[in-house]
Amino acid sequence: STPSLLILPGDGIGPEVMAEVRKIVDWFGAKRDLTFDVSEDLVGGAAYDAHGTPLHDDTMARAQDVDAVLLGAVGGPKYDALDFSLKPERGLLRLRKEMDLFANLRPAQCFDALSHFSSLKQEVVAGLDIMIVRELTSGVYFGEPRGIFEEGNERVGINTQRYTESEIDRVARSAFELAMKRDKKLCSMEKANVMESGILWREVVTRVGQDYPEVELSHMYADAGAMQLTRWPKQFDVIVTDNLFGDLLSDLAAMLTGSLGMLPSASLGAPMSNGRPKALYEPVHGSAPDIAGQGKANPIACILSFAMALRYSFDQGDEAARVEKAVEAVLADGVRTADLLGEDGTVPVSTSEMGDAIVAK
Ligand code: NAI
Ligand code: MG
Repeated sequence: STPSLLILPGDGIGPEVMAEVRKIVDWFGAKRDLTFDVSEDLVGGAAYDAHGTPLHDDTMARAQDVDAVLLGAVGGPKYDALDFSLKPERGLLRLRKEMDLFANLRPAQCFDALSHFSSLKQEVVAGLDIMIVRELTSGVYFGEPRGIFEEGNERVGINTQRYTESEIDRVARSAFELAMKRDKKLCSMEKANVMESGILWREVVTRVGQDYPEVELSHMYADAGAMQLTRWPKQFDVIVTDNLFGDLLSDLAAMLTGSLGMLPSASLGAPMSNGRPKALYEPVHGSAPDIAGQGKANPIACILSFAMALRYSFDQGDEAARVEKAVEAVLADGVRTADLLGEDGTVPVSTSEMGDAIVAK
């Protein structure tokens, strides 16, 4: 059956970058005979303006039903004064929570034409292509007890790192599946030297690894991992880690290669009845109110998020590579949105011109 895609452009630059993704989706229909059952709906401030809620129940139900959701960005100053429960971000959080998206995939990929953006030496980042899998729904951000309590004559702030075997098992499985589609190398990071949750993490990941004998599994303490990521990141292919370490390591890894306008992400959940994982794809950046409505936004992060959907939801790895190569080629030609400009006097292209250039390639 035709694969289904729900597009949620959202707020600010969300609709602008999503319009460029639509050009690529249309190109696949016209030139590659690859069509999607595409529907579009509101999320965030746009949904609040229309329905008084940042995510309508009907939209939530559709998201549960499709093969993949692609989201632009939510939020903006217009909504800052709203009640916590009505804020645009709540729409995104509800999607993540109700779809139970426990595996957050954050690639760090270096496009040669942009390697001078890195704070590291060129030879350290040239050709870099790694993926961090961060557990997203458990761990210290959710564990109980939590809170600020009175203790004697002072207060104490408490958060609890807590992982069940099944929570570790499922995110490990996502990471091994991913490694199978890539270079078959997985490094698990925790702090088993000082944390019991880390001991259990290492044990369960090792056990899951027995189901993936082709994948070369290694373990590293997360602090050592941070060092290795900046020293020689190309030693890694896929990294799997918990929510807290993953938060830090994925931001660190992302900045090995460059700009916010270039970074895609995916959040995956359990397999549905058709075998595909529940999935939400979105650029890492937000709604960028400072440049919204000016045609300045870089659409590449959102376009690469769609490429991830092709690879991880639709089993179209070759077509995903086609998109990534087109992006690479356009950058090699020197085409730049304003956020990618150096000092060399190049004139920036608009959001729409960048999209057109990628489609042409
Ligand atoms: P932001 O990511 O929207 O912007 C940070 C800076 O990067 C800005 O200067 C912006 O112009 C630039 N930038 C971001 N994406 C770009 C792109 N594609 N092309 C060119 N430049 C780009 O983060 P900020 O400013 O902290 O938040 C703005 C709004 O977005 C807030 O309402 C925030 O809550 C929301 N937000 C939403 C996220 C989401 O939808 N997942 C994630 C982060 C923030
Ligand atoms: Mg973070």
